[in-house]
Amino acid sequence: MCGIIGYTGSESVKDVLLDALELLEYRGYDSAGIAVEDDEIKQAKVYKCAGRVRDLRAICESEKLLTSCGIGHTRWATHGGVSDENAHPHQVGKVTLVHNGIIENYRELTADYDLGDSLVSETDSEVAAALLNRFYEGNPEEAIKKTVSKLKGTFALVILFSDHPGEIYSIRNVSPIVATLCEQGAMLASDLTALCRFTNRYFVVPEYHVLKLRRDGICLTDLDGKEKQPQYLTVDWELNNAGKNGYPFYMEKEIMEQPDAVERTIAERIRGGLPDFSADGVPDELFTGCDRINIIACGTAMHAGLVAQALVKSLLHMHIDVDMASEFMYSDPVIDKKTLVIAVSQSGETIDTLEAVKYAKKRGAKCLSIINVKGSSIARESDYVLYTNAGPEIAVASTKAYTTQLSIFYLIVAKMAHLRGVFTTEDTQSFVRELQRVPEVMQRVLKERREIHVLASRVLEAKDLFMIGRGLDYSILLEGSLKLKEVSYIHSEAYASGELKHGPIALITQDTPVVAAVTQEKLRSKELSNIKEVKSRGADIVLFIKESLAGDVDSAYETFLLPDMRDEFMVMPASVALQLLAYYVSSDKGFDVDKPRNLAKVVTVE
Ligand code: M6R
Repeated sequence: MCGIIGYTGSESVKDVLLDALELLEYRGYDSAGIAVEDDEIKQAKVYKCAGRVRDLRAICESEKLLTSCGIGHTRWATHGGVSDENAHPHQVGKVTLVHNGIIENYRELTADYDLGDSLVSETDSEVAAALLNRFYEGNPEEAIKKTVSKLKGTFALVILFSDHPGEIYSIRNVSPIVATLCEQGAMLASDLTALCRFTNRYFVVPEYHVLKLRRDGICLTDLDGKEKQPQYLTVDWELNNAGKNGYPFYMEKEIMEQPDAVERTIAERIRGGLPDFSADGVPDELFTGCDRINIIACGTAMHAGLVAQALVKSLLHMHIDVDMASEFMYSDPVIDKKTLVIAVSQSGETIDTLEAVKYAKKRGAKCLSIINVKGSSIARESDYVLYTNAGPEIAVASTKAYTTQLSIFYLIVAKMAHLRGVFTTEDTQSFVRELQRVPEVMQRVLKERREIHVLASRVLEAKDLFMIGRGLDYSILLEGSLKLKEVSYIHSEAYASGELKHGPIALITQDTPVVAAVTQEKLRSKELSNIKEVKSRGADIVLFIKESLAGDVDSAYETFLLPDMRDEFMVMPASVALQLLAYYVSSDKGFDVDKPRNLAKVVTVE
């Protein structure tokens, strides 16, 4: 969590920092701040406030900041409330710093080094600034080394020293920092989104290495002072991919991008109509040598895992567990050399997932990850990676990451079924052909989005809502329900519809709308009976049903017809429909759809 930017170069520093912070705001939007060098006072000037980057922009607007170097931060509050004082950057003596992560021993450090008097905020980050200042005797590298040897916890620190103008220093442990040197100067950021306006080349700063940026050069050294060559990666994300492209919110834009994103994710991985991961360097033995699978992920990525679980069970009859990454290592998971662990993450930086991967690897498992951000921490920690080609996902609510993750899972399932003799070559090709239809089918749902907008008005005023379905429909609704609650603040619960009458049906009244999904032929009649049960208790029904299953469905239900696919693939059109439902509810309520309260896009604290 928390967005970080640092820039030294020829462009207007204020603009570069503020524009970057706007792009990084999805990492936290409790407060924002920048520090820019000021030659006259030989000290960085700090501008910061609780609130959004737009508030910070207003504060800085009239300031003429003639400088070539500065750092910036958007905060997701952990230690210390949301206030101007707790906003970053923090300045103590000659040190001005921004921080992402948690310094766990900040209290001990404050006491041991008697730092209390120099602190004005309640943050752990300011303690790091004070400690650095304490150790600083004119040599930034030495002070940084000494400081980090005392820190416990996770950190990405980005630092200005007042007597080293034009230079930005950084060091990290766990919390990510990427950097680049390009035509406009040198820059670093907590993530790629902020850099791809300038370049498609970047490198991940290795942990416990000191990075020094100057406008015309970058110097990376390990803790022994040995110079290291940055390992540059390239990314094909374009600037206009990271802009709103005429849409009022990124969430809508990203929902609309899904047909292309799925197409990009699968196209290069199909040869002769069969799944092929050879370009990803993923060997077939990975799928034949395992006797159980364990998926670890959080939030939406975990919901993609639940869909995969249903497919693996029904098609491959294999043992498969899905764990919330945050619970994984505390649940004594059954993991050994024959376990294939699949980690799923859009950002590749979610700390719970990262820690779970490390744990599984220690227990001997092979780890394959499904990731959107190239070179991210989870990708680097994994044995193999299958990248989703979703492009940058900026809205906090995940949409195209989910459907591209699912696309990879469909390919994995097809691959495993083929390799294990469950599918013939023809079966596999037919399964893959259905996957190739997904972009076009999604497009049909998107074309009908006005109908879903009308349905959204039926749930707009609800305080509580249920989403019900069985089997794969239940998995789809878990994600639909998460989407709705995070962007609309409606309390929504997804429930297996057969389980409802074992308790929660007591909550159904005429004020509790029920969203139902019916996409699986074998479950249709049972699901429709369950819907009747809640209808007869007064609930209004919003129904998403596969077109060919709609038949004589009750005309009292508000119904959206989902274009037909094989049952296993109905997740795709249904998910797009449910994302649109959540989106319209939120935007019609006038909420900031892309930045729901209390959330951040990348969760890097446990
Ligand atoms: O970057 P990750 O995919 O690892 O993120 C996992 C979750 O934090 C994320 O999916 C979250 O649940 C989204 N806000 C849901 O829309």
